[in-house]
Amino acid sequence: MTSVKPVPAERLPELLRLMPKAELHIHIEGSLEPELIFALAKRNGVALAYGGVEELRSAYAFTNLQSFLDIYYAGASVLLKEQDFYDMARAYFVKARADNVVHAELFFDPQTHTARGVGMDVVIKGLHRACVDAKTEFGISASLIMCFLRHLTEEDAFETLEQAMPYRDLLVGVGLDSGEVGNPPEKFARVYARCRELGFRLVAHAGEEGPPAYIWTALDVLKVERIDHGVQAVKDPALMQRLAKDRIALTVCPLSNLKLCVFPDLGSHNLRHLLDAGLAITINSDDPAYFGGYMNENFTQTFAALGMDAQHANTLARNSFEASFIESAAKGRYLDRLDECFEDFR
Ligand code: ADE
Ligand code: ZN
Repeated sequence: MTSVKPVPAERLPELLRLMPKAELHIHIEGSLEPELIFALAKRNGVALAYGGVEELRSAYAFTNLQSFLDIYYAGASVLLKEQDFYDMARAYFVKARADNVVHAELFFDPQTHTARGVGMDVVIKGLHRACVDAKTEFGISASLIMCFLRHLTEEDAFETLEQAMPYRDLLVGVGLDSGEVGNPPEKFARVYARCRELGFRLVAHAGEEGPPAYIWTALDVLKVERIDHGVQAVKDPALMQRLAKDRIALTVCPLSNLKLCVFPDLGSHNLRHLLDAGLAITINSDDPAYFGGYMNENFTQTFAALGMDAQHANTLARNSFEASFIESAAKGRYLDRLDECFEDFR
């Protein structure tokens, strides 16, 4: 752990914003703001079940993961053309830059789009072009992680993998998302084994609402390198030890957990407990357009609620780079920038 000089509480929000950081858990479809949903609906002639932006936003009162997913998939129905995917990702990068996110690994859900007749080429080309432009325009490095929808079959996931193979070089890894309970990681054992052979980096959502057993099988059956969410690990001391010992990063999303009622309030969130227990915790936004905030909101609200300090901030930012899939020389440069930011902050 890098030792960090103390920062007065009133200066902490400034440090949280200024420090360079990586975002490792962002569903790009979850960055679609209501205004862009309606603009794209108009551009593409798609009818929505909501009369306007305010009516849609007022429907964002979720009780659990599924209640969110129903609205989230409806919002994604406005995405039809390559330019739509580009515009969505570019809008995210504008927000990311404001929060000093210097590296982002974007999840996307191709099955949500291919099931509506949108080609895999349309989805990947639009997102990839936005990633290339993020580097030249904003200096943000970005890569794509293709997620399989776990409420669908493994056969469907295999088909999706096949469709993505022409774009293999544009993807850094694969993930697993959507409704967790009743869809354990081992349902996707074969397709993950194949992705591993193909050289994809592997992650999976586990322990968001589902039990610690799902985190174990994500690690031991799917052989993932990071766990998305993972907050239910706290219920299993042996799992906590395993995660700490193997430095398995958890991509935790505090405002998401709050909005989806995983914790009753931010003050009850276990992020600080997990971090203080030595786990490789990172902070991320998940679906920022739906959960009330991008990276900086997640950091500032969580730090205020849990009374965390500059040392925690440094560890979280450091973890975000160390757990990323950036090649090692660039990773070193980001870590140097982080050190400089903390040294220069006064
Ligand atoms: N898809 C988008 N956001 C998700 C989340 N928080 N959990 C599972 N699947 C998702
Ligand atoms: Zn997620």
